[in-house]
Amino acid sequence: MANALGLVSSSARSFRERKLEPWAFRRFGSRRALLGCFRAAMDGNVLGAVALSSSQRQRGKMIYHLSVKSCLAMGTEWAILYFLNEWKDKDHQAFIELKEKQIKEMETRQLDHEYYEMGCLVCGCFAWLSNCRGTSYTRKKNCRVVGLGSKLVGSGSAVPKLTISNDDLAQIVETSDEWISVRTGIRNRRVLTGNETLGGLAAEAAKGALLMAEVEADAVDLVILCTSTPDDLFGGGSQIQRDLGCKNAWAFDITAACSGFIIGLITATRFIKGGGFQNILVIGADALSRNVDWTDRGTCILFGDAAGAVLVQACNSEEDGLLGFDVHSDGNGHRQLHALATYDHAAESNGTRLFPPKRSSYSCIQMNGQEVFRFAVRCVPQSIEAALEEAGIPSSSIDWLLLHQANQRIIDAVAGRLEIPHEKVISNLANYGNTSAASIPLALDEVVRAGKVQAGNTIATAGFGAGLTWGSAIIRWR
Ligand code: ACO
Repeated sequence: MANALGLVSSSARSFRERKLEPWAFRRFGSRRALLGCFRAAMDGNVLGAVALSSSQRQRGKMIYHLSVKSCLAMGTEWAILYFLNEWKDKDHQAFIELKEKQIKEMETRQLDHEYYEMGCLVCGCFAWLSNCRGTSYTRKKNCRVVGLGSKLVGSGSAVPKLTISNDDLAQIVETSDEWISVRTGIRNRRVLTGNETLGGLAAEAAKGALLMAEVEADAVDLVILCTSTPDDLFGGGSQIQRDLGCKNAWAFDITAACSGFIIGLITATRFIKGGGFQNILVIGADALSRNVDWTDRGTCILFGDAAGAVLVQACNSEEDGLLGFDVHSDGNGHRQLHALATYDHAAESNGTRLFPPKRSSYSCIQMNGQEVFRFAVRCVPQSIEAALEEAGIPSSSIDWLLLHQANQRIIDAVAGRLEIPHEKVISNLANYGNTSAASIPLALDEVVRAGKVQAGNTIATAGFGAGLTWGSAIIRWR
């Protein structure tokens, strides 16, 4: 029994009035609609969903036939045809005849031009899916209910035992507690030692999130590990899935440096809203101490190791906890912050590498601190403003500002630009330094457990770092 309707709408209200419960996308709709219809169809949830429009009649007709047939092939009973003014009555009549023969119900509705391409893509997907059904694609037995919203319902975190203070660092490089704390706000950081592993921290953080959410491990559908420093070159998500006992989940890694958690969080919400996933663990974990040159005082003072996690859960649209988001990358800035692959192997006198290489690795972090600083202070407020605009709320409505914990001066500058008062700014980097993908969920978990962040609070959060990558999300806690 189909239980969801995916469609593309230029008017959410009109569907509400008809007591339908579709996904209706007004802005930035194409990708979401496409993914939504695609995933729902794969799960066998689609009642019927077609969106198209065309001022070129032949093409429109062809797409319509294709999509209707695809819906039929999937056993659907509904089709929704969107069309443009240019379509003539006789064109509709031909389709309505087709409908009467093959489809129980069909609606037609006028659509804006901007959705034309989107309609084509959606229809293409249906066509592809109907082909798949005939060959290797197998429908899942249990249909998933596609969530209309996603909310954060649990958090957890973990840090290594060893604390390294600024004074400790002053024993290693020429620096001082005063220089580090004034320029960065950092006083201590944690570093993995002994038999501690990144995966161990990540699993501990994830367990905390599951406990808080009161969700069993086998109810988790997906584990997303956001990290640039996995224990294994090929990623660590599946090992955490195993360690947690998430036997019904699948897992993958996301590498996007200090923006990783934000991107993982947004990815999770897409899988819920478009894919019928119920419970997704998003873990941010990094151990940049492994890639720091401990003789370079410009970088080694900044970083620490940690893990933080949240459980993102499907919910109804009223409870939706992701109010808006904004993401970017710019490879032109890559030279400002990187840790490149290195090869230990013989070379010709002209420097050409020979085959086979003996061993490969990564260089230590190379960073132009001042440029990264300028980039963060310029781009992060813009990104948060864009996400706030999507959410439809002003910065004065934010309860908390939670930025990637890189430098207190960056946090203060961004808060100043957004006119967010100091008491609304979350900061814990004095204790942990820059923990890359872990910094946002680590700080979130602390303030949640301390009772500062309460259910219903709105948090503007943003990550930024190597890539260059940056992004923000406006979230509501619980
Ligand atoms: N102790 C003492 N002196 C130092 C130290 C240190 N640890 N580090 C640098 N200095 C010296 C420099 O040599 C320089 O000396 P000089 O004037 O004699 O040449 C002086 O201090 C000033 O150096 P700057 O690099 O200009 O210092 P700045 O104020 O820019 O602070 C810092 C450096 C803290 C790195 C800052 O630029 C910063 O935080 N940048 C942003 C980093 C960041 O946010 N990264 C996020 C992404 S991380 C990721 O994605 C993995």
